Amino acid sequence: MANDVQKLQSIISHCKEYGFIFPSSEIYDGLSAVYDYGQYGSELKKNIRDYWWKSMTQLHDHIVGIDAAIFMHPTTWKASGHVDNFSDPMIDNKDSQKRYRVDHLLEAYADALEAEGKKAEADDLLATMDRLLAASDFEGLKKLIEEKKIKCSVSGTSNWSEVRQFNLMFSTQLGSVSEEASEIYLRPETAQGIFVNFQNVQKTGRLKIPFGIAQVGKAFRNEIVARQFIFRMREFEQMEMQFFIRPGTQKEWYEYWKKERMQWHLSLGIPPEKYRFHDHVKLAHYADAACDIEYEFPMGFKEVEGIHSRTDFDLKNHQEYSRKKLTYFDTELNQHYLPYVIETSIGLDRTVLMILSEAYLEEDLSTEGKKDSRVVLRFPPKLAPVKLAILPLVKKDGLPEIAREILSACRPHFRCFYEEKDTIGKRYRRMDAIGTPFCITIDHQSREDQMVTIRYRDSMQQERIPIPQIREIVEKEIL
Ligand code: GAP
Repeated sequence: MANDVQKLQSIISHCKEYGFIFPSSEIYDGLSAVYDYGQYGSELKKNIRDYWWKSMTQLHDHIVGIDAAIFMHPTTWKASGHVDNFSDPMIDNKDSQKRYRVDHLLEAYADALEAEGKKAEADDLLATMDRLLAASDFEGLKKLIEEKKIKCSVSGTSNWSEVRQFNLMFSTQLGSVSEEASEIYLRPETAQGIFVNFQNVQKTGRLKIPFGIAQVGKAFRNEIVARQFIFRMREFEQMEMQFFIRPGTQKEWYEYWKKERMQWHLSLGIPPEKYRFHDHVKLAHYADAACDIEYEFPMGFKEVEGIHSRTDFDLKNHQEYSRKKLTYFDTELNQHYLPYVIETSIGLDRTVLMILSEAYLEEDLSTEGKKDSRVVLRFPPKLAPVKLAILPLVKKDGLPEIAREILSACRPHFRCFYEEKDTIGKRYRRMDAIGTPFCITIDHQSREDQMVTIRYRDSMQQERIPIPQIREIVEKEIL
């Protein structure tokens, strides 16, 4: 088993080798912090997206889904506060010209301290950093970096610029003629598409508070320090839900959604000790309470989802900037008000990395006198890109015909993979490497007794089952 430092590298290589994730436009040497999902990665990502969508909308009485455009009226981002506030404190190394996010630079230094066994010093550093960030004390942050003699990884020097704020939104031009074109932004979060449609959805859906609106879609951020594979990307996907509530009830709904979302994470089969909550000290410009659900990635505990109590910040500002009334009439209270909002916001790509990190296992299968090993992705069957591999033992004697009949019967219900090349052992290993939970092998005996061998990915146990049972066994595990 690779150690944790190597594990992320092993996952990155595995993802590339087995068609999960490639660097974007790789033939041109890639594009920093942008990735493409391959044949199995896109299936995995879709299955995670569908699982989230189903549990948030279909299985919830009071949540509906929408799909808003990426481009939005530019005033949206003025109202949301992103034009003025969506920035991070950055510092440049004057020798290498490399730009760093201040918090990332300090966090990396704290990680190094912790690795040297200086945990108390690392905790102290992070607490000081949080305090300075919360106070927007840029001079203090620069001083801290200098005091700790933190060096640039490129130049190796500590020749730092002042700390400055940089906006993370990408902009582009809308319109064909440059004089007529206006500047618009690529959305940095999907949430605003929900806020601007709040009344459309509430009125047409005749929805009563409390209710939620969910959305999955792309978001774009010009991350300065983009690293750790698909953990921090410049183009990524978010799965967000805004839950509209009566003002004054935000504390109880915030707790409710913290619990609900943690339950969802646990339903992925990930043990509770791999998760923790992290309460925000430095609150985003829109929140009165916020926390992250952190998962223990190979590079340590990191945010995978945010839960934010957003008050009426967004609706109030959209009302003001658009001059359209966005209040809701509560028939029970006989009162008009702007609803408060609890937001749950999870990164789809980060969830993919979480599922990959949890599933990836290098297993030593050596027996006395025989070395053997395998790499297996132990995905929950409902998320696995391929559910069933159908493998005739040989390419002749009528076995492919039986296998193809099974394929025709199963493929309308779940994703199957058919393969007749190579030894059965090699085929099993390839299926382990892409995380296929079930393989069935059709052999000569199958012609006589209409039975096949099913092999379970995790235990590698095999048993004979009647052909008509295949579908039932797989479906029981993937629903
Ligand atoms: N609407 C609230 C919002 O966007 P956020 O904490 O900035 O909150 C929510 O982002 C989630 O989106 C994060 O928990 C993370 O999973 C994901 N995310 C944010 N920035 C990301 C990036 N650059 N690359 C990949 N995922 C990202």
